[in-house]
Amino acid sequence: MKITDTVLYVGVNDKSIDLFEGMYIVPNGMAYNSYVILDEKTVVMDTVDGAFTDEWLGNVEAALNGKKPDYLVVQHMEPDHSASIDIFLNKYPETIVVSSQKAFGMMKNFFGSDYGDRRIVVGEGDTLPLGERTLTFYSATMVHWPEVIVTYDDKDKILFSADGFGKFGALDVEEDWACEARRYYVGIVGKFGKPVQTLLKKAAALDIKIICPLHGPVLTENLDYYINLYDIWSSYGVEREGVVINYTSVYGNTKKAVELLAEKLKEYGCPKVAVNDLARCDMAEAIEDTFSYGKVVLATTTYNGSVFPFMKTFMNSIVDRAFQNRTVAIIENGTWAPTAAKVLKDTLAGCNNITLAENNVTILSALTEENKAKIDELAKELCK
Ligand code: FEO
Repeated sequence: MKITDTVLYVGVNDKSIDLFEGMYIVPNGMAYNSYVILDEKTVVMDTVDGAFTDEWLGNVEAALNGKKPDYLVVQHMEPDHSASIDIFLNKYPETIVVSSQKAFGMMKNFFGSDYGDRRIVVGEGDTLPLGERTLTFYSATMVHWPEVIVTYDDKDKILFSADGFGKFGALDVEEDWACEARRYYVGIVGKFGKPVQTLLKKAAALDIKIICPLHGPVLTENLDYYINLYDIWSSYGVEREGVVINYTSVYGNTKKAVELLAEKLKEYGCPKVAVNDLARCDMAEAIEDTFSYGKVVLATTTYNGSVFPFMKTFMNSIVDRAFQNRTVAIIENGTWAPTAAKVLKDTLAGCNNITLAENNVTILSALTEENKAKIDELAKELCK
């Protein structure tokens, strides 16, 4: 597949994966992207997951069309991109590896060699002339690991963006970009908003016409749309107006409260109400919603003097990802000693810029008329 006359796509689609990074369901599979640049010097940009080494080597060979690869640029050492490095370098013993100092340390850990006799170490702003173009490397520390670099091609105005601007899903599946890119971003890179902001500032100084990420489609049009979303996500801004309700319910009473609240929110004109049953939904979808809506409701039962386990896992997941800048309301349920609200508030105390709603609700087993009135007040408050 041609990106330009001299930059070719040589990645692979993974339709057999069950959990990406051991955690994320990917109903439409995953793409591990890799690219070949043909110039006076030839370059392979990153490798692929170890299950696809042979297919990828075939793609690379076809793209090179009889030429030898002069350089292998390694932007990221996570195995979904790096697992084929050693096999590739054995196949092409004259190829020079170009990567960051930290990445070479990781190669030693993964492969027992840091390729000291055939490598170029690059850091911020270093360049590699290829003939008609020069590659410039930029550090992208913690987007998503510390060794990450991104690469700019000044001839075709391409930013090779490593995990940045990636998404779940194989490339032969048509689907909305933002939904699976957001779930990917919040889940995998969400904790690292500041490093992403740093990278966006560097990118803003470049004339970029094409973004070539390591997952998901090559982006060639309307780049401001993608960059703007990345700016919102990485600054923990509100992307979507509305309310997300994340809940757990054991015997259906907390669920009834959630349904009533959702109904009232719609009645009072809330532009969008998303409801996630944390025991049954894809937790990554609930986390994605929670980082994109401005108002978040947590509804849960008291359990072992704390909160229900699925809510505990959910709370750990959002706190780990630097959850911040949101209005949060709490509905707790407890038959003899409700403690869920206190535990949730204590957990949120570690998050920046959280505004707690005034009308939080305590249910003692089943909904009372007083609870219903309070939920009505809460809906009005959240629709202000
Ligand atoms: Fe796609 Fe962080 O690896």
